[in-house]
Amino acid sequence: MDHFLYRGGALHAEDVPVAEIAAAVGTPFYCYSTATLSRHFRLFDEALEGVDHLVCYAMKAASNQAILKTLAALGAGMDVVSGGEYARARAAGVPGERIVFSGVGKTREEMRQALEGGIRQFNVESEPEMVALNEVALSLGLRAPITLRVNPDVDAKTHAKIATGKSENKFGIPIARAREVYAEAAALKGLEVVGIDVHIGSQLTDLEPFRQAYEKVAELTGMLRADGHDIRRLDLGGGLGIPYTRSNEAPPLPTEYGQLIKDTLGHLGCELEIEPGRLVAGNAGILVSEVIYLKSGEGRDFLILDAAMNDLIRPAMYDAYHDIVPVREPAPGAEQAPYDVVGPVCESGDTFARARMLPPLAAGDLVAFRSAGAYGAVMSSEYNTRPLVPEVLVHEHQFAVIRARPSFDEIINRDTIPEWL
Ligand code: LLP
Repeated sequence: MDHFLYRGGALHAEDVPVAEIAAAVGTPFYCYSTATLSRHFRLFDEALEGVDHLVCYAMKAASNQAILKTLAALGAGMDVVSGGEYARARAAGVPGERIVFSGVGKTREEMRQALEGGIRQFNVESEPEMVALNEVALSLGLRAPITLRVNPDVDAKTHAKIATGKSENKFGIPIARAREVYAEAAALKGLEVVGIDVHIGSQLTDLEPFRQAYEKVAELTGMLRADGHDIRRLDLGGGLGIPYTRSNEAPPLPTEYGQLIKDTLGHLGCELEIEPGRLVAGNAGILVSEVIYLKSGEGRDFLILDAAMNDLIRPAMYDAYHDIVPVREPAPGAEQAPYDVVGPVCESGDTFARARMLPPLAAGDLVAFRSAGAYGAVMSSEYNTRPLVPEVLVHEHQFAVIRARPSFDEIINRDTIPEWL
């Protein structure tokens, strides 16, 4: 459920007509709903009620300061994957003890930054990283709390580019070698082993792969405890999928996911962490765009928008489906026709949808891409020197620009000219 609904024939974000925001801000722009963000965060928090837990929002999904502050106020921790994300989380007021640091290639500089600034734990992904973190911690006279990310060799049954739990993926330590690597970690004085971490992929629409992974983690917890490690925290990653189409069967709900976690791991007495990103932000955001031209092609009609692949890369990159809806509600029973929905960027990959059935649309009409809140704005670029699109946050009847569109001068002045030119 989200808070982007038609009211009186016009698409609203909570209590604000989307067309009103477009008139004030210009198109294209991202628009987020506070109520949806909050609701989705709380669903996870409630799903783990009764067990000691922390929901660490995977801020790579959408990391605007206003979004982070909204979630932090609800008690969210953060999952960060770079020094930049760590700095963003701290700037939004998230204390170090609520930040977990994931990622396969943390640099020594990033380790130092997080150790000095405060960190709940590093999720370590390899032996060389473990050795580096030990050295950095010792040089600062500190001990770094760690989990080791294990790779359970489970097929997440999702798009190949976002599956991370198979042995051929670059992530984690093969679970078969975990006992050996934990023994090495325990011998390093700059590290304190606190638990186990696992994350098998994103946009999972079936609970079975999670079950397989979590059962393996439960078994490993027993083995590591028998080896003398104090395993007291389990980080279970993110990955629960969202419905991108309204016709598709809905993915499992956070409550069902929470129940699975309790069933497979609840008996271990560990503190549990989860790192949802997409389900918190995905359906809490839309990308609003204006139709520039309607162009008749050979046997097809192109709907040319002012948004492009640089603003929303997911269709080009993952063949992702995003629902596209007119901002003015179509008349009941309005006839639909197939359109190829494209942007102005100079490549054929700049295609959002082919033969998409849509009600009649004309130049100047506004459309909204639904489910664009996660991995939308954060993956955008200024390719073709198209300014990064602004972000807007709605809260009931109010809205605010939370990232402004840069001017052409701002973009150009980021470049500097060497003195020989
Ligand atoms: N934890 C770790 C260690 C991750 O790598 C990820 C996502 C998450 C949590 C959050 O997963 P989520 O709950 O959002 O599924 N750009 C792609 C998705 C990349 C996901 C990367 N890792 C897309 O647009 O589909």
